[in-house]
Amino acid sequence: MDPVERIVPEKDTSFGFIEAALALGHECLHALIHQLERRSGGTSSVSAPVRSMRIEGGRLVAQGDARRVDVSELDAVFIRKDPPFDAAYAYATQVLEGVRSQTLVVNDPRGLRDANEKLYALEFPRWTPRTLVTADRNALHAFVAEVGGRAVIKPLSGAGGFGVLSVSEGDSNARAIVDLLTNEGQQLAVMQEYLPAVSRGDKRVLLLDGQPLGAILRVPARGELRANIHVGGSVEPTELDAHERELVADVGQRLRADGLYFVGLDLIGGKLTEVNVTSPTGIRELSTFLGRRVSDDVIRWVEKKRAGTA
Ligand SMILES: Nc1ncnc2c1ncn2[C@@H]1O[C@H](COP(=O)(O)OP(=O)(O)O)[C@@H](O)[C@H]1O
Ligand SMILES: [Mg+2]
Repeated sequence: MDPVERIVPEKDTSFGFIEAALALGHECLHALIHQLERRSGGTSSVSAPVRSMRIEGGRLVAQGDARRVDVSELDAVFIRKDPPFDAAYAYATQVLEGVRSQTLVVNDPRGLRDANEKLYALEFPRWTPRTLVTADRNALHAFVAEVGGRAVIKPLSGAGGFGVLSVSEGDSNARAIVDLLTNEGQQLAVMQEYLPAVSRGDKRVLLLDGQPLGAILRVPARGELRANIHVGGSVEPTELDAHERELVADVGQRLRADGLYFVGLDLIGGKLTEVNVTSPTGIRELSTFLGRRVSDDVIRWVEKKRAGTA
C-alpha cells in the first residue's frame, strides 16, 4: 500500500480494513509495492520486508524494524496502492502472480491487470453511457456533436477527478482540451456523453465478492463537474433503486469471475461510468451512515474465503 503517513483515518478505506482486521485479532503488515521481491525456484519465491501496523491515538503507525516475510504464508494480501496504475503497479501484479494460488490476493493480480477502470466499464454495454475511446481528435469532436453538443473527456489512467473535463461544441477551449487529453492525437482518451444527472450526484456502490455492501452519494460542489471527494464533493447517504440493483447484480457476477472482489462502481443517473478496482474508497463514509463498521464484513469474508466457506 501507500506509506502509512499518508493514510487519512477519516477517509481511508485501507484504514477501515486495518482497524477491522486488528479488532478481529489479526496482525496487519505493511510494505510498499516496489518492495515486493520474486526469486526463481523454491516455494518462498515472493517476499517483502514488512512492518507491523498499529492504531495509536486514532492514527495508523508502522512500528519496529522491517522483517522479511514469505508472502505465500500470509492469509491474505490487500493491494491498496492509490492509482495511477503505472509501471510499478503493473510489475507488482506480475510479482504477485507467484503467490496467487497460495494466498488470497484482493484484488486478483490478473483482474487488476485486465481491468482498466475506464475501459472495463465498456464490458457492460447495457449499462454504460455512450462512450468513445480513441486518440483520433476529429472522431472525438464528431462524438461531441453526436451526443448532443456536450461531452466529458477523461484520461485513461486518471483518478480522483484529475483531468476530467467538460467539452462543449463551439466552446473556444474545445480543441485545446481534446489536443491536451490526446497528447495531440498520440494517446487514447475516454469520451462519454454528458449525463446531466451528475448535478444530483455520482453514486459510489461498494461491492464485496459481487454483492453490494452499500452506497454513498457524492454531490459536486456548486459550479463543479466532478463529484469526487478529493475535489470537494460532499457525501450523502443513499440507497439503490430497482434499476441500480439490477445493474449491480449483473456487473457483480462478472467482477466475481474476474477476481475483482472489492470494487467501487460509479453510477450517474443509473449509468455505469467507471469501475474502480485498484484501491476503491468510501467504506468509512458508508460505515458512518449505516452506523456500523462495514469493513468488518470484508475481513469476515476474507476469513471465510480462507476457510473455504465463502
Ligand atoms: N459522463 C459523465 N457525465 C457527467 N459527469 C461525469 C461523467 N463522467 C464523469 N463525470 C464527473 O467526473 C467525475 C470523475 O469521473 P470518473 O469517470 O468517475 O473518473 P475518476 O473518478 O477516476 O477521476 C465524476 O464523479 C462526475 O462528477
Ligand atoms: Mg470516479
